[in-house]
Amino acid sequence: MKDIEPKVLSKEELRRISQGINGEEILEFQKHSLNNFVEPLTPIEAKEPGSPWVKVQDEEGNMKDILDCTSMNWALALGFAHPDVNYAAMEQMKRLTHVRYNCLTPARAKLANKLAEIAPGKLKGGKVAFNNEGGGLANEAAMKLAMIASRGSDHFGTFWHGYHGSSLVTATLSQPIHAVTRFDSFAAGHFTRMPQPYCYRCMWNYKNGSDGKKDPECNLECFTVVEKYIKGMAPRQMAGVILEPIQGAGGHIPFPPEFLKELKQICKEEKIFLIYDECQTCMWRTGKYFTVTERYKEELGLDVSPDMMTFTKAIGGGLPLGVLIASPKVRKTFTPTEEHTTFSSDPVALATGLAAIKVIEKEKIGENCEKRGKFITKRLKEMQEDYEVMGDIRGPGLFIGIEMVKDRETREPFTELVEEMIQLAPDYNLYLGESMPILSAKGELLMRNLVKIKPPLVITEEDAEFIVENFEKVLKKALNKVKE
Ligand SMILES: Cc1ncc(COP(=O)(O)O)c(C=O)c1O
Repeated sequence: MKDIEPKVLSKEELRRISQGINGEEILEFQKHSLNNFVEPLTPIEAKEPGSPWVKVQDEEGNMKDILDCTSMNWALALGFAHPDVNYAAMEQMKRLTHVRYNCLTPARAKLANKLAEIAPGKLKGGKVAFNNEGGGLANEAAMKLAMIASRGSDHFGTFWHGYHGSSLVTATLSQPIHAVTRFDSFAAGHFTRMPQPYCYRCMWNYKNGSDGKKDPECNLECFTVVEKYIKGMAPRQMAGVILEPIQGAGGHIPFPPEFLKELKQICKEEKIFLIYDECQTCMWRTGKYFTVTERYKEELGLDVSPDMMTFTKAIGGGLPLGVLIASPKVRKTFTPTEEHTTFSSDPVALATGLAAIKVIEKEKIGENCEKRGKFITKRLKEMQEDYEVMGDIRGPGLFIGIEMVKDRETREPFTELVEEMIQLAPDYNLYLGESMPILSAKGELLMRNLVKIKPPLVITEEDAEFIVENFEKVLKKALNKVKE
């Protein structure tokens, strides 16, 4: 197959589409955009192919480099414009860029087979469905399969602080985000939202839960509440229970593995499908393992693997892809039209997804993630001695969240500080992430008090050092600002 040569437009004309932008074009765009979220900096290109750094342009046309600790919505495990991922895309694009949803392509078959091989526990050898959009649709696919397999039940258990997507259905499945959306109630009758274990802010007042580990004295009282809902207190019989083993957007809140063990048991007894949304925690984000479920198996000897699991973010190598994998024990499958969109068999994203997995495996990038994550977390814990506002620091791997508090004793959330830090970070060549807010009835923004450090997994030792040093500079400056 020959290299790509344009036939109609000049190479220069085609390059110009993605190469740069001027102030006028930005202003014009703002007039025409229905989305009100345009950031002051425009990412233009990778500093190097496969780098965690990106060159950005401000409205005056000035360029600077940013180390991206958001991995662009946690999707770029391999950094910006990774050469192998791009090569896989180009090879696929030379041959086919689109087929109907019910057409098999080589990449689709190979990626499904690979995921069935590397999925954790009960899911090994499972069945896979792809979509071209991401996590929301993958979660809806899981709900559909649970509904089909549980013969008509259409009710789901979900948890406070969960985030599962922004479609009309998954927005309701998620924690209400009244501060940022106006569609939190559509299909509300299909969900029962239950309190999640939040070890740093335990409702039973255990004080020593930290970094996702429960207080040694805790008797999982929170589980007994969830058990009540599952065993009849929810308005309807549940088809499934959906959760993120470590809640991402909702504040980087891990479910302690002991809770997951109990939940798995009760779901089995009650014939309810247990569904994990590992959209953020897949693709070695949490360290040496493909998923966090696998980490619990390997490190704690605890098989808490669910009946179904969903992936997105880095799973497409940086291109849009959502995945549902179901245990081979789930006998039902979809009819051709029950789970499809026009573009759901996207050959390019399926090829880049497989290329990214192979690169991570071959280069042992999960090991790099584990090592750099441990280094950053250790340094943050040292820093914590000097900064009263650093409450709880939670990992693992390069899935790091720091909960900011006004006072370590009361743990009062320090939302204003985090807002400042996010704004200031680009001045120090960093992007930092933040947690999803809760809007109180009085109109206060609550709980946007967690800073996220989740850079591409390929960061070097120098990058890790840079992150820690500049995080501290941002923190100092933000503290001064909030005192003003
Ligand atoms: C855990 C989790 N699930 C699902 C989603 C939704 O994915 P998408 O935005 O691709 O629909 C997200 C997105 O942030 C997520 O973090």
